[in-house]
Amino acid sequence: MKKKLYVGTNNKMTMTIAETKNFITELRELTADISRDEMRLFVIPSYTAISAAADCAGDGITIGAQNMCWEERGQFTGEISPLMLEEVGAALVMTGHSERRHIFRETDEEENKKVISALTHGFISLLCIGETGEEKARGESDEALRRQIIKGFLGVNPSYIDRGMIWVAYEPVWAIGVGGKPAEPEYVFRRHEKIREALAFVFGIERAEKVPILYGGSVNNENAPKLIAGGDVDGLFIGRSAWRAENFSSIIREVLPVFKVKEK
Ligand code: PGA
Repeated sequence: MKKKLYVGTNNKMTMTIAETKNFITELRELTADISRDEMRLFVIPSYTAISAAADCAGDGITIGAQNMCWEERGQFTGEISPLMLEEVGAALVMTGHSERRHIFRETDEEENKKVISALTHGFISLLCIGETGEEKARGESDEALRRQIIKGFLGVNPSYIDRGMIWVAYEPVWAIGVGGKPAEPEYVFRRHEKIREALAFVFGIERAEKVPILYGGSVNNENAPKLIAGGDVDGLFIGRSAWRAENFSSIIREVLPVFKVKEK
């Protein structure tokens, strides 16, 4: 079976409900001609915009949440539960984004509880991992990634992979956001190899092969085709460069043919 290109954006805390609706509507129109057999497109808006986003996304855009509490209900002020996300139409839950881990001090153990809860509630679980600049400087990138994979997926039933519910995004902390430095493609390819090995350690080789691994961190029009051209990169997870629908669509159109050549 031919592989699909995975491409998505995390809107972070940047768009109101009205802005998200405009963004999704435009993105939907701009990508209407691209077959979803070739591409899995997803958008992760703010919590408040999920419902509106799900309403205007149609079948071609998967809508996700940027975070989730592992509990269904209770005394967890400020948190949003799986039941609430189900109710507003989210289909995917992102866990462990760098900003959650580093600004809000989330741990691998917490990410693990969220991954398990998301899967149990029927969501696609997108686990984000990435080494810090210090870990990279110490030559400990692969160790950090392996740790995040092993701890993040501890106790996860491998059969979720067969249902396409486990995705991974590799986002080096030093590469993300304003001031981030995009990773060189060769560097990304080596890390993805190691991530695949860690997944094989956890889930077995055959199942590990089926987990899409996306790259994220300062992806733009210029580096996107190079990042997808080689290595074990199944897709791109984009922030700033995707927040104008027109630009997002132009990146998709640049990378899709490159990806198809690689997968031939
Ligand atoms: P960026 O964000 O593309 O703006 O660097 C990536 C991310 O945080 O997912």
